[in-house]
Amino acid sequence: MILPIYLYGHPILRKVTKDIPLDYPNLQTLLANMFETMYKADGIGLAAPQIGLEDRILVIDLSPLADDNPSFQGFKKVFINAHIIEKSGEEESVDEGCLSVPNIHEKVSRQNRIRIQYLDEHLQPHDEVYEGYKARVIQHEYDHLEGIVFVDLISGMRKQINRAKLNRIIKGDVKSSYKVKFAPQK
Ligand code: NI
Repeated sequence: MILPIYLYGHPILRKVTKDIPLDYPNLQTLLANMFETMYKADGIGLAAPQIGLEDRILVIDLSPLADDNPSFQGFKKVFINAHIIEKSGEEESVDEGCLSVPNIHEKVSRQNRIRIQYLDEHLQPHDEVYEGYKARVIQHEYDHLEGIVFVDLISGMRKQINRAKLNRIIKGDVKSSYKVKFAPQK
């Protein structure tokens, strides 16, 4: 089932998510819906707050970028109860976008290596290190689990330049090719 993607300005995107219980009902259906929603919107990652849930879950599939980097082929992953326990390595500044922030792309500086503990879709625990673009995408989605949106991380000047666009998204005045849910209007 394709779910609406909550847009910038919606308060759910500011919540710090909670670990889910191991008996979480209909988990596999939720994960399938998250992937379906992400694919429909041509995304490569989606976090639960973006579909209105305060659950510590994110999904990623880098396969659409495999032409650029063969190691992305089949990189389809579920991270449940994810916790980044270490960030290291060089800071790199690379363009990012977000399904919750349509039509804005900006460079974000991030460290290029992370260590993350999480459960996979079978609730098996993992403790892994990721580098480069994989580490970047995981950090972007992980930020959603912490109530952070990538535009929070861009420079003050770049944020100022995008201020009008961001205000339009907050007001629900934005077009997207996928189903969205705007912030409640005051
Ligand atoms: Ni995002």
